[in-house]
Amino acid sequence: MSTGPALRKVGSHTSIHDAALNHALNLNDDLQDAIAENQMDEAMDISAQIIDIWENRIIEHANSEEESLYKEMSAHSEELAKRVIELTREHDILRVLLAQIKEVLQKEGKVTDEAVRKFDTLIIVDEVHNDYEMEALELFHK
Ligand SMILES: [Fe+2]
Ligand SMILES: [Fe+2]
Repeated sequence: MSTGPALRKVGSHTSIHDAALNHALNLNDDLQDAIAENQMDEAMDISAQIIDIWENRIIEHANSEEESLYKEMSAHSEELAKRVIELTREHDILRVLLAQIKEVLQKEGKVTDEAVRKFDTLIIVDEVHNDYEMEALELFHK
């Protein structure tokens, strides 16, 4: 996972966000298609792939930020220190949603409407988060 310089630049950081989010978005579409065709085993396989992206790319990315970039931003100004608290809370919301999805899949043994709704919610929360994070990164460079 990229750390350091790539996270400090708006361009490369945005590319990291967009690549992972587009991948998740495409898989959410595939998931809805599989469910519409009543391919429930296929839907479980796709869900596992979606979870893998969230855990191993997007949450890993968030962990890297909290360990490096966010510390530097917090030290930069009071305004950014406040934003880092908000951004970290948004990471936590992603972590909570992901845990809820895994729990419902495990409990029900199939992809439920609730899981589908939360896969979509992850995308929306992350889009809002990424915009706010890039605004913060621009303040960091001012
Ligand atoms: Fe983030
Ligand atoms: Fe980020």
